[in-house]
Amino acid sequence: MVMLTRVLCLWATLVLNATIAKGHRIPTRNECPPFKNGTIVIDSYQLYPENADFDLNQCLLYFGALFNASVVVYDPYKAKTVQTLEFPGITRTDPFHVGGVAWDPYTNLISILIDDATPHVTPDHHVGGDDFITRYDPVKKETLWFLNITEVSQGKYGGQQDVEHDARGHVYVLGTYPGTILRVEPDGSAIKPWYLPKVIDHTYTGLTGFAATGDILLASDARNATGSGEIVRFDMRAQQGTPVLVPRTPNEPIMSLDAVYLPPKYRGTVLLVSEHDRGVSVLRSQDGRWETAEYLGRVTDDPALKDGGVNVATVEIAGSVYMVDEWFADPIVPGTSAGNRTAFPMWDITAQVEKLLGAKGCSGGGWLGTIISS
Ligand SMILES: *[C@@H]1O[C@H](CO)[C@@H](O)[C@H](O)[C@H]1NC(C)=O
Ligand SMILES: *[C@@H]1O[C@H](CO)[C@@H](O)[C@H](O)[C@H]1NC(C)=O
Ligand SMILES: *[C@@H]1O[C@H](CO)[C@@H](O)[C@H](O)[C@H]1NC(C)=O
Ligand SMILES: *[C@@H]1O[C@H](CO)[C@@H](O)[C@H](O)[C@H]1NC(C)=O
Ligand SMILES: *[C@@H]1O[C@H](CO)[C@@H](O)[C@H](O)[C@H]1NC(C)=O
Repeated sequence: MVMLTRVLCLWATLVLNATIAKGHRIPTRNECPPFKNGTIVIDSYQLYPENADFDLNQCLLYFGALFNASVVVYDPYKAKTVQTLEFPGITRTDPFHVGGVAWDPYTNLISILIDDATPHVTPDHHVGGDDFITRYDPVKKETLWFLNITEVSQGKYGGQQDVEHDARGHVYVLGTYPGTILRVEPDGSAIKPWYLPKVIDHTYTGLTGFAATGDILLASDARNATGSGEIVRFDMRAQQGTPVLVPRTPNEPIMSLDAVYLPPKYRGTVLLVSEHDRGVSVLRSQDGRWETAEYLGRVTDDPALKDGGVNVATVEIAGSVYMVDEWFADPIVPGTSAGNRTAFPMWDITAQVEKLLGAKGCSGGGWLGTIISS
């Protein structure tokens, strides 16, 4: 049995390496020093992060500051905010939020999603206000383009909350009500629907977050919050997106879904699923193809959950994996856009994730470690 596991692991590693090798042009970038500081607390008045990503070129963390509708750029090595991006007419302006923010590994650019918050805070997910997507060059510190998503959606669907990228320069935009994906041309010249469900009913809760590896786009699908959600897979080479179910073994439920994330250190083989009041589910596809997924377990011991905080996202900072929490219910400080919180903990869950990976299969010491030790 051990021998068979090792043979399978070796085979899976070779397939994975071949997939990566024939894969894509990755621009040259800096090496970020390993970050090993454990749980950290971000000191930032009204940060209320909804989403985060780590720029592996500049070694900086990007937060979508939900209620202020700004983007905070944070240096984890120095523990300080280095920049705050504000958008005239949007930042601290009702009804805008900034949710999705992502570093693009193919271009080193940042994609930022500005959304009308109304569908998230009304029971029937009322859609009406405007959503925008913008592309930012963090080295030149300039905005490359800024697009009005409502010109495409015509106010029929909304809840835009996540962004992803492919090797050909496209930017993908995920909306939750009823679960849509739009695709932006590399030069920002056009944005078009890439996946729309057959029935456009904004009362329905669909896709909540996505994560890409090579040409595979994975998305969490809340299935209108009735029981368990699912993970679906899209092929980014296609002209139009088609969701394909990724079955889980065992078929444990995934619920109250938000972001999903593939930590770079696992090279597209481990998916972390954020579940608001339940923690982080850990899924794995040993060959990185995501035709099926192993459900390995859930990281639950998040002290923030006892403090009204909910898990909205996860992010890896140069080797360490963190839970990002949000406090949706804090009363707004009069005259401002957000609650009075100044300290935002990020919980280091690296060891818990490693433990779940090590319990079964090839991981633990990593792929090469397995081969070398066997
Ligand atoms: C949010 O806006 C307030 C002003 O209302 C400002 O003091 C604070 O620094 C901002 N925080 C962030 C994270 O943008
Ligand atoms: C990280 O930990 C090191 C060693 O304990 C410490 O010197 C440093 O100040 C910490 N950095 C941050 C950002 O907390
Ligand atoms: C965005 O597009 C919508 C639909 O065309 C339009 O009503 C709205 O005014 C536009 N917003 C801006 C800021 O241009
Ligand atoms: C989705 O669920 C909501 C209640 O949570 C319900 O009002 C709505 O009708 C459902 N939509 C569909 C299309 O099932
Ligand atoms: C923040 O607001 C809460 C209630 O909304 C209050 O209990 C708490 O004392 C406030 N904290 C500060 C530092 O003002």
